[in-house]
Amino acid sequence: MTDAPVQLRPEILAQRAYQQGKPAAPTAFKLSSNELPFQPLEAVLEAVNGVSGFNRYPDARATAVREALGAHYGLPAEQVLIGAGSVSLLYQAAQAAAGAGDEILYPWRSFEAYPGIVTVAGATSVQVPLKADASIDLDGLADAITERTRMVVVCTPNNPTGPAVRQDDFERFMERVPSNLLVIADEAYIEFVTDPAVLNATRLLRDYPNLVVARTFSKAYGLAGLRVGYMLGNAQVLQAFATTAIPFTISEQAQAATLAVMQEADAIRERVNEITARRDEVRRALIDQGWRVPETQANFVWLPAGEQTEGVNEILLEGGIVARAFPGHGLRVSIGEEASVSPLLAACWQAIERYPYLRQTDAE
Ligand SMILES: Cc1ncc(COP(=O)(O)O)c(C=O)c1O
Repeated sequence: MTDAPVQLRPEILAQRAYQQGKPAAPTAFKLSSNELPFQPLEAVLEAVNGVSGFNRYPDARATAVREALGAHYGLPAEQVLIGAGSVSLLYQAAQAAAGAGDEILYPWRSFEAYPGIVTVAGATSVQVPLKADASIDLDGLADAITERTRMVVVCTPNNPTGPAVRQDDFERFMERVPSNLLVIADEAYIEFVTDPAVLNATRLLRDYPNLVVARTFSKAYGLAGLRVGYMLGNAQVLQAFATTAIPFTISEQAQAATLAVMQEADAIRERVNEITARRDEVRRALIDQGWRVPETQANFVWLPAGEQTEGVNEILLEGGIVARAFPGHGLRVSIGEEASVSPLLAACWQAIERYPYLRQTDAE
């Protein structure tokens, strides 16, 4: 990397490019990217196949999608911004809000893209450790705000550990945040939330103009490969984020698919219910095996394997399970198709038998 033939930003050279979840062998289950395991819905396929005029650029502002989402949330279209996945919108936000000498604050461990987003903006990451139960420390985040902080990101439910922030705790947190500091609630997994006490940040947009909510069609809606995410918030703030966008990244197919999937609320709800029921079963079974799996409100579970992460990952791979390993910390396993459950549980059992000291002790 450092022997590049031209001068490049050292902080970029020091960073690794985004690491995608490993492709799975045809016989393995790919549980590494929190995707939905189901095939696209028929109506969505038809909408995508119906797009033919792609000799022309797509609508750069995705007007019809913004209007549809605005109608859904009771907001004017100016309060909706569409991006090629919510990760692009997070890049846009960071570049609009922060530069050299500024700080961007977020919990850690959290979504693995955050450090790179901050580095690309030229800003400095300030990471606040998760609490012992792998949940976000909102007081710790509020305490870490300085006059250099320009953006705070709260990922809820938290990727990769699973716990979500409660509505009342988040409201108390927002009261502690300066009113001119941008806060992003990254709610990529909100559709999988089953606990009614969990935050739905869209309810707070009217009270806090400094709050922006990020959501995506990649997870519950099953459009990961088409790249559509959105932000809801103050119109002037979103206008600034629009300024840092790469134009034309949301294809006409992606826009058509989004409009179509928004009409399929019942089918999506059914799929999501299947996943959340399976998630709760898998977590319960893993806890019965002795794993310390944190509470999860998302479509994945966290195995805190610490120093044994790579060893556990090997056992999972041998058992036909492709998870996302974070060496030294643990593994995130997405909830997939029904057929993946028994090989997953068998491999996890083998792993905890191999590393019995990972078992929860009675004292915990
Ligand atoms: C917390 C979180 N935010 C944002 C994203 C980005 O999703 P997308 O860019 O597909 O909308 C992800 C994807 O894994 C995520 O886990």
